[in-house]
Amino acid sequence: MERVEKFLKEADTYFLATVDGDQPRVRPFGTAHIIDGKLCIQTGRSKDVAQQIFANPKVELCAFKDGTWLRVAGELAEDNRLETKKAMLAVYPSLQSMYSAEDENTCVLYFKNATATFSSFTSAPEVVTF
Ligand SMILES: Cc1cc2nc3c(=O)[nH]c(=O)nc-3n(C[C@H](O)[C@H](O)[C@H](O)COP(=O)(O)O)c2cc1C
Repeated sequence: MERVEKFLKEADTYFLATVDGDQPRVRPFGTAHIIDGKLCIQTGRSKDVAQQIFANPKVELCAFKDGTWLRVAGELAEDNRLETKKAMLAVYPSLQSMYSAEDENTCVLYFKNATATFSSFTSAPEVVTF
């Protein structure tokens, strides 16, 4: 899981796909941090992306860096604890102008039943589950 977190941070931007009925949706994301042994991302409860995840927690993300692409497929579950939200916002100070741990909107989600696959054109895929 640490390797996945490192790759996502170094790639800086990944693309998060959700399911909206029978329509896939995808958008850029940047937050990724391990908190209490879980790979977490941050979003706003008011966003379509959050509502799609609450309706169907299955997601997949993709990031690309230095000839390698990483896909993480799994489910996202909410960690609604104040300390988790504080930890996430501490790692991403730029979010603090838009979110606070105490507000109604801040939403931290963690991966479960996740399969992460590192792929490239030059070597066999490497799979990590967590
Ligand atoms: C580089 C980049 C990183 C982003 N990271 C996040 C993020 O970690 N969490 C988030 O909620 N929105 C993030 N956004 C904004 C979302 O992409 C944007 O709010 C998007 O419209 C959300 O998807 P939705 O419209 O389907 O709800 C980021 C945008 C960019 C350009």
